[in-house]
Order: sequence, then structure tokens, then C-alpha cells
Amino acid sequence: MKPNLRASSDRLLRRIEQLAAIGSIDGGGVCRLALTEEDRLARDLVTRWMTELGLVVSIDEIGNVVGTRLGVVDGPPVMIGSHIDSVATGGRYDGTLGVLAGLELVETLNEANFQTQHALAVAFFTNEEGVRFAPDMMGSAVHQGSLGLNEALATKDEKDASVGEELKRIGYAGDDAVATVTPRAFLELHVEQGPILEKAGTTIGIVTGVQGISWTEYRVTGTSNHAGTTPMGLRHDAGFVAAAITTEARHLADQLGGDQVATVGVTELRPNLVNVIANHARITVDLRNTTEDRLQQAEARMTQYIAKLATIEGVEVASRSLARFCPVEFDPDVVNLIETTTNECGYACQRLPSGAGHDAQMFAPNCPTGMIFVPSQGGISHNVKEFTAAAEIDAGLDVLTQVVLQLTE
Ligand code: GLV
Ligand code: MN
Ligand code: MN
Repeated sequence: MKPNLRASSDRLLRRIEQLAAIGSIDGGGVCRLALTEEDRLARDLVTRWMTELGLVVSIDEIGNVVGTRLGVVDGPPVMIGSHIDSVATGGRYDGTLGVLAGLELVETLNEANFQTQHALAVAFFTNEEGVRFAPDMMGSAVHQGSLGLNEALATKDEKDASVGEELKRIGYAGDDAVATVTPRAFLELHVEQGPILEKAGTTIGIVTGVQGISWTEYRVTGTSNHAGTTPMGLRHDAGFVAAAITTEARHLADQLGGDQVATVGVTELRPNLVNVIANHARITVDLRNTTEDRLQQAEARMTQYIAKLATIEGVEVASRSLARFCPVEFDPDVVNLIETTTNECGYACQRLPSGAGHDAQMFAPNCPTGMIFVPSQGGISHNVKEFTAAAEIDAGLDVLTQVVLQLTE
């Protein structure tokens, strides 16, 4: 029988505050890039909380940490998961909300002395953000078998450090085999990171799926020369090519319209001097669309544009895919369950797709999966100003609790 449980956001907010002190940066945000010292300290804290709550903690070969609370019956757990790594300019809610909401739920169950029928697990996955090591959602992808362990371990950052080396260095190269656990169901509570819920005045987002993601890195090689003496027609300017690709990304999104978005988040020029034509550029292009065909159109258009541009400017352009995920749809039964439960709890809600990538999308092909969104003030995320009000966190926690109680029955 479902107990009458109500987790409280007070304790959850205190934990969010404590975790945000690790890697804190000006403005209230965090910098906890995957597998850095800050990530290690955050992992240590959350793992300690898991142990204190009586969870059985396991660490797998890609450093995912799962804390399990046993159920009445044996068998796979209902899993709540997200991440505690961040981008370098991250907010304090992205990822941590989902993980710490899971711990709050466990603590509430412990206090009520209630054993769920099926086990409940709370997980945080390695390198969800993908900014230090690409691709993003690395730990959950390896966990669910869509990315090979060895390929992931061999991935290097810009300073040539590998995921495998860094996992060992921070003490999170675990022993447990990956790709062996398919949860009974997977749930992720997350901040929306966009403006839709706030604009509509709804408290809960029922996430229908995640849009497709395509990340490509381009390295442009031109020729350095004097900025004052080199005639315009004789230049092989890597800086110009980087800028032209950036402009094309915006045009492409404007012209394709619909859900298409495009971002150039990295531009690095060498030698990066005022009076020297750049001989090298590294830039990244992030393309996303909810429809796979449209995403492929955007990719093809970018490829054609860059090939033509390289010929005209007389530069070499090498490209490398950093991440590629098709759009994902969540399980209709889980989506319906979250929606019905939200209505029963009395919160205003609406369905929406996710614009950001999430660990949940890696579980979606293998087990019933769903996500719950709470609003982000001003639609701001990947920014220290990221904020979600306590009342909204409370609502998200409430819906998560009631959904988990049904799924573990
Ligand atoms: C992860 O935060 C992503 O969507 O890039
Ligand atoms: Mn996230
Ligand atoms: Mn993020």
C-alpha cells in the first residue's frame, strides 16, 4: 500500500547549498568539471551521504556511483539519476537537483520506516556535461551500453589527460562491471534550463523526450602573415573562417526555423595577436533539433558550406564528431503516469520536449523512462544565475516522490 509520504525541500535545499560550496564561483554558481579535484570532493560528499542513509554503494568502471535501498522483493531497482559535474560556468541546480532529490526521498522513506516492494536506487553518472571530455552523458551511455567502456576511458581532454587516468587519479575507477543493470524504470528530476514553464506559468514540466544533439569540432589551418602588409586577396585566414562558420550557424538555424538551434561555443585562435593573421582556429558547432531529418539537413548544410569556404579561402579544415545523439521519446506510460500524478497533486503542468541533453535519454531505449522539469527563473542555465524557487523544487520533489511510490509498488 502506498504510504502517505511527503518529502520536504528544506533538507534538500541544505544539501544543494553544501554541494554548491564545492567548486563555488562568483555569483553563486559552480565549476566542477568532470574528474577534476572539485568533482572528486563532490563525489566524496554525495557518496558519504549515500552511506549515511544506509544505501549499498557501488562504483562502476566508468565511475558512476549508485546507491541502492533494498526492496521487499529481489530484482532490478527503480532508479533515480542525474549528475553532479558541471560546466565551468555552471549553476547549482543543473544535475544536482535530481541526485539530491533522490537522497531526500530515501531519507523520507527511512524516517517512515517504509520498505518499497521493489528496490530504489539513486545514481550520479560520470561526465554528463561533456565539456572537458566529449561526448556528454558519457557515464550513462556506458552504463546502458551505447558507448564502449574502452572508448570512453581512452577519451582525452585538451591537455591530453584521459578519462581512465583521471578516474584513477581521483579514486573513482570502480570495480563493478558496466552495462549489466537495466533498471525496472528510470526517472530524472531536473531544472528546465529554458523559458517555457516560467512563461506559461506552469510549475511542472512533463518531459516527452529529448531533442537530437550533434557536436562537431573544426580545426582550421591557414597561414600567419602580417596584418598590415598582406593584401586581402592573398590571405588564408583561419580567424575569418571561424567567424564565417559562426555566422553560418546562426543563418542556418534562422532559415531552417522550427526547433532548429545552433551554437558556436568555442573559438580559439592562434597565435591570437592583434597584428597577425591567425594560422589556426579551433571551433565547435552544436546543432540540435527534435526531428532527426531536420538535424541531418542542418549537418549537411554546414558540411557543404565549410567545404566551399575552405576552398575559397585556401585553408585546410579537419572535422571531428564530438557527440551525436538522435532525438529520444520517453515511454508513453511513464509520461502519462507523471502527468496524472502531477494533476492529482494539484500542480499546473504541461508537456514539453527537453532542449538539453540528459542522462535519462540513455536509459530510454532500454527501460521505461521519464523526466520531470521544474521552472528555471528567466530561462537561465549553464550560468551562475541559474535559479529555481523553493516552492517549485518542493513541487518537483512531491511529484517525484508520488511517482516513485507507484513505480516501486
Ligand atoms: C548538457 O547540459 C547539454 O545539453 O549540453
Ligand atoms: Mn543537467
Ligand atoms: Mn548541464
